[in-house]
Amino acid sequence: MDKAPRNLTLQVPGHYGAPHGTFALRSPARPNPIAMSVVRLVGIEGCTLKVVGLDCLDGTPLLDIKPYFASTDSVPEAVVGWHKRA
Ligand SMILES: C[S@@+](CC[C@H](N)C(=O)[O-])C[C@H]1O[C@@H](n2cnc3c(N)ncnc32)[C@H](O)[C@@H]1O
Repeated sequence: MDKAPRNLTLQVPGHYGAPHGTFALRSPARPNPIAMSVVRLVGIEGCTLKVVGLDCLDGTPLLDIKPYFASTDSVPEAVVGWHKRA
């Protein structure tokens, strides 16, 4: 997330109103602004991958592509403490 500030330790997520630590958030504004998205591949044209579900600006540098294995990557029962209380 190359357009994001990197110096915020506390942030107020828009629709929650209370401040939380940067590492408790999915905010793009972080010391190392690496974002991650699980997307659905809907097509391949030459070197172009067509995907659904990406939430980054046009021109955002792409660092890596990995397969998503629900068997290992998905933890449906996981909760985020503050989010659960919000
Ligand atoms: C909340 S972050 C979540 C990103 C990713 N899904 C994650 O969880 O790591 C997504 C938001 O970052 C912002 N954003 C997208 N591309 C960006 C970029 N290149 N630099 C800074 N902010 C960006 C947009 O406001 C977008 O809605």
